[in-house]
Amino acid sequence: MKNTEIEKQIDYINKIHNLLNGKNKKFSIYTMGCTLNENDSEKISGMATKMGYSKTENLIDADLIIFNTCCIRENAEEKLFGKLGEVKKLKESGDVVIAICGCMMQQNHIIEKIKKSYRYVDIIFGTHTLHKFPEDLYNLLSQKDKIIDVLDIDGEVYEGLPIKRESSSKALVTIMYGCNNFCTYCIVPYVRGRERNRKPEDILDEITSLAKEGYKEVTLLGQNVNSYKGNGYEGIYNFADLLRAVNKISGIEVINFISPHPKDFTDDVILAIKECKKVSRILHLPLQSGSTNVLKRMNRKYTKEQYINLANKIKSLVPDVVFSTDIIVGFPGETEEDFEDTLDVVKQIGFEQVFMFIYSKRVGTPAEKMEDQIPDKTKHERFNRLKQLVESQMQENNKKYIGTIQNILIESKSKTNDNMLTGRTKTNKVVIIEAPDDLIGKMVNVKIVSEHMWYLKGEIV
Ligand code: SAH
Ligand code: SF4
Ligand code: F3S
Repeated sequence: MKNTEIEKQIDYINKIHNLLNGKNKKFSIYTMGCTLNENDSEKISGMATKMGYSKTENLIDADLIIFNTCCIRENAEEKLFGKLGEVKKLKESGDVVIAICGCMMQQNHIIEKIKKSYRYVDIIFGTHTLHKFPEDLYNLLSQKDKIIDVLDIDGEVYEGLPIKRESSSKALVTIMYGCNNFCTYCIVPYVRGRERNRKPEDILDEITSLAKEGYKEVTLLGQNVNSYKGNGYEGIYNFADLLRAVNKISGIEVINFISPHPKDFTDDVILAIKECKKVSRILHLPLQSGSTNVLKRMNRKYTKEQYINLANKIKSLVPDVVFSTDIIVGFPGETEEDFEDTLDVVKQIGFEQVFMFIYSKRVGTPAEKMEDQIPDKTKHERFNRLKQLVESQMQENNKKYIGTIQNILIESKSKTNDNMLTGRTKTNKVVIIEAPDDLIGKMVNVKIVSEHMWYLKGEIV
């Protein structure tokens, strides 16, 4: 859609390329937040690479530094201000361009703070103006004026931006932007706008090209992927149809998706998962709280019982499925009984993986104004109790893998041991294996020989 806009941006990319001609300039990008931001950063890296910048991990070497920000919790925000402090010296001693983008830039109070206290920032762009980075950078380089380019209204869905991916075996593919759910604790709908779906033909074209390039694994991304709506292209009207179509693309062997919402988990989606053997057997089913009371005030649109029934239904139709989840502790008004309901669901479901968060007040969300905010001490106590339960379950659960044969995609060398390779099971468990480097990017059968809490050890069979 709107290809003329992208053509315009590609012209700016070429103009910058001429400006930089042969100057050996470097860029560095620092990404905070979720996989959607990671995918956005791959697009920014794609644009910067086409402009003629080469990538460096070292901020000191960079001529262009980009911060792609997140504001989901307070600590995500603090990270940016820490980083901005670090680059101040670089700015004072050299001719470096500093750009900030992402979710935090959609918040007025943050932009005001940057304008006032971090005046050395050159470019600010938001989530709806990501594609205009070439134009903003060109204007800065040619006019030297600071640029603030943030739109409040929902952006369009743009296709055809260059992309430079982090991995050569697994790829992130955004299928929809924004969120309509307005969970009362969450900032995302305010900073990412309303749901906008990519067209099925654009998604399938992208994944088909990825398969031709040798990619084996794709992760379909969106804040609420199972509310995806297609235009009917090749019969694709909803998320279940899309899964079936992606499953048919030869060369792709593993399909993940994050995040689905329990309220949109239709029987058809469950059946599609059952039919599509490439779809990962770990399903992310965000619980947030096990208390019906809290869930209601969170605006999650399901009860404790409905969540458990859904998990049981999925498990009975697709028995090899396991679940991961997100849980928030210390939501305003959460009582000891409410928290025990959360522990109860964790015990009943036996999650494979639990991402645990302490509730963090977000400016402008309904929960910010709720009474009975929970004291920090109680939040931390509850967090630790939940963590203990999750870790004891995890250890028990890991034992089930020992002796099993797992078909896994070898992703890379292990970060902690150069002699080992690493990959993940279809249930997202990290496995490390002693094996020759030429297996990277291949699917192999591995026998699990031992468990070590956060990873499993395997041998090629
Ligand atoms: N759309 C996804 C979640 C995106 S945010 C979904 O609905 O699952 C990822 C997770 O961050 C959420 O699932 C939630 O558990 C957590 N989160 C969001 N807002 C938060 C807040 N204000 N405080 C603490 N955790 C929060
Ligand atoms: Fe936030 Fe809820 Fe939307 Fe997820 S579904 S992004 S938690 S508002
Ligand atoms: Fe953060 Fe934005 Fe993702 S707020 S979690 S980077 S959508």
